[in-house]
Amino acid sequence: MGFFSWIPLLFNLCMLLTAKPTLSNSFLSKEGLAEIPSKFFNLAKRPEVFQYMVNIRRAIHENPELGFEEFETSKLIRNELDKMGIPYKYPIAVTGVVGYIGTGKPPFVAIRADMDALAMQEAVEWEHKSKIPGKMHACGHDAHVAMLLGATKILQEHHSDLEGTVVLVFQPAEEGGGGAKKMLDVGILENVDAIFGLHVSTRYPLGMVATRPGPIMAGSGFFEAVITGKGGHAAIPQHTIDPILAASNIIVSLQHLVSREADPLDSQVVTVAKFQGGGAFNVIPDAVTIGGTFRAFSKEIFVQLKQRIEEVITLQASVQRCNAAVDFHTNEKPFYPVTVNNIDLHGHFLKVAESMLGGNNIIEMQPLMGAEDFSFFAEAIPGYFSYLGMINKTQGRLEPGHSPYFKVNEDVLPYGASLHASLAVTYLLELQSQVTTQKGSSHDEL
Ligand SMILES: *[C@@H]1O[C@H](CO)[C@@H](O)[C@H](O)[C@H]1NC(C)=O
Ligand SMILES: [Zn+2]
Ligand SMILES: [Zn+2]
Repeated sequence: MGFFSWIPLLFNLCMLLTAKPTLSNSFLSKEGLAEIPSKFFNLAKRPEVFQYMVNIRRAIHENPELGFEEFETSKLIRNELDKMGIPYKYPIAVTGVVGYIGTGKPPFVAIRADMDALAMQEAVEWEHKSKIPGKMHACGHDAHVAMLLGATKILQEHHSDLEGTVVLVFQPAEEGGGGAKKMLDVGILENVDAIFGLHVSTRYPLGMVATRPGPIMAGSGFFEAVITGKGGHAAIPQHTIDPILAASNIIVSLQHLVSREADPLDSQVVTVAKFQGGGAFNVIPDAVTIGGTFRAFSKEIFVQLKQRIEEVITLQASVQRCNAAVDFHTNEKPFYPVTVNNIDLHGHFLKVAESMLGGNNIIEMQPLMGAEDFSFFAEAIPGYFSYLGMINKTQGRLEPGHSPYFKVNEDVLPYGASLHASLAVTYLLELQSQVTTQKGSSHDEL
């Protein structure tokens, strides 16, 4: 950690040199709050800013990196921050970067992008196709980084108008690795008042945002179990203990958790997605491995589901004279909490999105059974997550995230950049006016 010690010094120096008194007629003023989102939208749509984001997105798309291996992506981000003169901390959680724009003083508000790609082969044939076999940005995190850097650019143009500090969070390993948790564990959100995150979506039209207050995505966990019996000749079963049949019964029994034990009005999932065992037509194997995922919308139900999965697997295995060892792999794949959108921030989001896009372009969506590690941030401090539509009917259908045919409609980039910038800046302005009316604010410097 000593490595970081020079950064705050440099940071303060940098702030001293750039700090200017806030003018009431500045670009980003409390009086002009309602116009900020459309002003930022116009800034983000300028051809040079749009092209800047497109170039970044394509460069990252060509060189996808998996969770905690985003070294080149992280380097690209730091190069851009260096060019803009923005101080940052690095490395955080291996490849993570946290930048700071503004006064360096409270209030602090964070905007976040994830950097990792998926272990899958891109099937889209285009000029900027992934150059790494078996790796692809199929969830749009390349676009997320580009949008956050776009937001950085338009914020930096007005950094001297900022009342407080925007914290730029570039996180590793969203896809199962829990990069957000690792960043949180080293304190990146200490003294930060709120955090905003976005995700591109192939479900909604371009120019529309979809979100909801409260739980928006499920809590998620993985499980794996090795069911061990006794292998032998497939025609002489009496001399074996068949783990294939035991595993089959376990899988059927697991279906009871949602169909019979859960409240039908409370959404839950238990899926066995992996079944590996045997290799011959005439041999009963020694062991079978099954694995899958479970989802729930409250911590209590999630914990209960986990316990029941373990019980059903081990007890059902013993009914069939097998042994079972259950592993939730929480070291590599931590349980993701439920993603909960803060109610107050929902009001804030609606105001910003309405003034940027118009009220008709805000969709109140149903919760998704998918999970997001943004949930770790939103569990620690007030957080808000939303989806940005990408569909342009004249350009044809878009395949969903995690499809090898996934494509980003790059026209979404200015929307994301200006939404990030607007959510952060208007939040700071509103908070600043509250803080100045409350005496003795307990916030320290970051
Ligand atoms: C949708 O695509 C068409 C054709 O490329 C383009 O002219 C139009 O501006 C796009 N719509 C939006 C909202 O960007
Ligand atoms: Zn994904
Ligand atoms: Zn994603």
